[in-house]
Amino acid sequence: MQETLKNLTATAREEIAAAADEQQIEALRVKYLGKKGELTALLKGMGALSPEERPKMGQLVNEAKSEIDGLIGEKSAELKSAAQNKRLLEETVDITMPAKRSAVGGLHPLNKVLDDMIDLFQSMGFDVVDGPEAETDYYCFEALNVPKDHPARDMQDTFYLGENLVLRTQTSAAQIRVMEKREPPIRIICPGRVYRADEVDATHSPVFHQVEGLVVDKGITLCDLKGCLEQFAQEIYGPETQVRFRPSFFPFTEPSVEVDVTCSECGGKGCRVCKGTGWIEILGAGMVHPNVLRAGGIDPDVYSGFAFGIGLDRLTTTRYKISDIRLLFENDLRFLDQFAGK
Ligand code: PHE
Repeated sequence: MQETLKNLTATAREEIAAAADEQQIEALRVKYLGKKGELTALLKGMGALSPEERPKMGQLVNEAKSEIDGLIGEKSAELKSAAQNKRLLEETVDITMPAKRSAVGGLHPLNKVLDDMIDLFQSMGFDVVDGPEAETDYYCFEALNVPKDHPARDMQDTFYLGENLVLRTQTSAAQIRVMEKREPPIRIICPGRVYRADEVDATHSPVFHQVEGLVVDKGITLCDLKGCLEQFAQEIYGPETQVRFRPSFFPFTEPSVEVDVTCSECGGKGCRVCKGTGWIEILGAGMVHPNVLRAGGIDPDVYSGFAFGIGLDRLTTTRYKISDIRLLFENDLRFLDQFAGK
């Protein structure tokens, strides 16, 4: 039996050394070490030996087994790295070959303008906050000094979701939510979608975008509002841009203003875009009404503030000279592709 084992080990050594690939090695592993392999057969045959011989023989078989196992492991690692080296040599990369072009997506023009605005306002110390689009009547109107039956409600045709739940008609709804949660000094912008029951045409859409701004601190005046908006307009439209305040009315600000910038198309001379006036209206703003500060839990005798609501869609259409607001909402790739990478 010892003789058989010796021969078997010797053949195994030769065969393993001669194996040319992984498959052959695997076959050898089965042949010698597998359940029905030759060594296992030898172990099984040990029953025929005398009790004195058995332990010795067992030890020899085990030694042979671990030798063969070790040889197979070594050979297999050797074959693997040889195969890899061969592949590396064969697969040289031609770095002068032109690359395949893959299509790259781009940001929606609204997002580009919004990103610029966020950068700008963050650099002035504003935080960006979010608010719900389905908003309660309280935050959208009541707390903003627009009680039920107030004629100002007609200014904004509201989509009602329930008796006290609306699709927010203005991001101003965020003002009160912020004041409830934060102590002055407050400096936030709240960008988002707003909804009004408007007929769709080239300049109107039932869903559009606003960016609300709110600043509350001690000693805030209309001058601060003007300075802030001037900086904003010059950043977005260019350094020569001028800003003009026109008196207006919003229930939640007093005084209220509408803000125009010099037309970026003609520089203020008058053209088709600005309908010959030289000015383009971009936002509504004003000093936060004392009732609104109170509703937000802030003492109007100690603090004052300003707020503004910028129409993001108008800003985007004028910046990119887009003639129809509907293009912003249709997601036609032929339109959107023009902005990729710009
Ligand atoms: N919410 C107003 C609108 O939608 C804009 C505005 C915001 C006016 C903040 C004043 C202050 O028309």
